[in-house]
Amino acid sequence: MHYPEYRPRRLRANAKLRAMVAETTLARDHLIQPLFVRPGSGERRPVDSMPGIFQFSVDTLVDEVKEVADAGVPGIILFGIPSKKDAVGSEAYAQDGIVQQAVRAIKAADTDILVVTDVCLCEFTDHGHCGVVKGQAVDNDETLPLLAKEALSHVEAGADMVAPSDMMDGRVGAIRDVLDLEGHESVPILSYAAKYASAYYGPFRDAAESPPQFGDRKSYQMHHTNVEEALREVEMDIAEGADIVMVKPALAYMDVISRVKDEFGYPVAAYNVSGEYAMIKAAAERGWLEERETVLETMVGFRRAGADIILTYWAKQIARWLD
Ligand code: PBG
Ligand code: ZN
Repeated sequence: MHYPEYRPRRLRANAKLRAMVAETTLARDHLIQPLFVRPGSGERRPVDSMPGIFQFSVDTLVDEVKEVADAGVPGIILFGIPSKKDAVGSEAYAQDGIVQQAVRAIKAADTDILVVTDVCLCEFTDHGHCGVVKGQAVDNDETLPLLAKEALSHVEAGADMVAPSDMMDGRVGAIRDVLDLEGHESVPILSYAAKYASAYYGPFRDAAESPPQFGDRKSYQMHHTNVEEALREVEMDIAEGADIVMVKPALAYMDVISRVKDEFGYPVAAYNVSGEYAMIKAAAERGWLEERETVLETMVGFRRAGADIILTYWAKQIARWLD
C-alpha cells in the first residue's frame, strides 16, 4: 500500500465514517461494577484512595444496585467487609455473613442484574491472607474446602456466578465439585485465572480493609514477569470447569489478555483494578487528564486486546456516558 493510491486519512474524515470502520466496540453489555458491602445501616462511606467509590451497608447497597441496573450495567461483583475476622475467615461462609445478606437483599429487590460474588478469604481473616495460614505459609489444600463452602453459601443465597480470586491451586475444581454435588451445575464460575501479585491493588486493600498483616501474596499470586505461566493457569482453570477466565490487573497485562484470548478462545474478563482507577482519577482531579476520554480509550484498549468482559469501578459512569 502506497501513498497516494492509499490514503488512510480518507476514512478518518468524519465521525460517521470513523464509526463505520471501527474495529472494536464498547457496549454496556461488557461491564461489571464492583461494589463493597459492610455491616450497619444507612452507611455510605467514601474510600479515600478511590474517589467516587463507597462502602455501602446492605440497605444503601440495594439502592446503589438499582442505580447501576438502571444505568444499563448487566452485572455487579460483591466484596464484603465482615463484622469480625478470625484465623479461618468464618464469616466468609456463614449463612448470615455480610455477602450472603447482601445477595439475598439484592435478589429480594426488583432488579434482574447478575450478581457475581468474589470468593476469597482475605477480607475475612484476621491475618489478611487468602487462605488458612500454617506458620508463615498459606496452606493450599486446607484452604480448598473453605473456598468451596464459601462459594456454595453465596450460591445458596442467590448468587448468579461465583468468582474465586484466591489463587490456590485446584480451587476451581473444588468449587465446581461442590456446586455440582449440591445441584448447582448451572451456576458458572468466573475464575481469576491469571491473577498477579500487584502493587496496583493498593487502594482496594483500603476499600476492602484486607491488607495482609504479615508478608505479601507472592507465594500464591503470580509474578509479573510471567506470561507462559499465565497460560498454564488458564488451561488448568478451564480443565477444572471455569466458564470465564480473568486476567488481573488489566493495564500492565494487555499482552496476557491478548494471548489468553488467542490461545483458548474462551470468554475473557479483564479486571481494571483499583490502582488503575486511582491513577486516572487523581490525574483527572488535578486537571491533568480528561477523565471521560481517557477512561473510554482505556476500555476500548481492553476490548481490542481481547477482553469480552471488563470489571471496572467506572461501570455505572461508563454506562451513562454511552447512553
Ligand atoms: C481479593 C481480591 C483483591 C482484588 C480483588 N479480589 C485484592 C488482593 O488480591 O489483594 C483486587 C481488586 C482491585 O485492586 O481493584 N483476593
Ligand atoms: Zn484474597
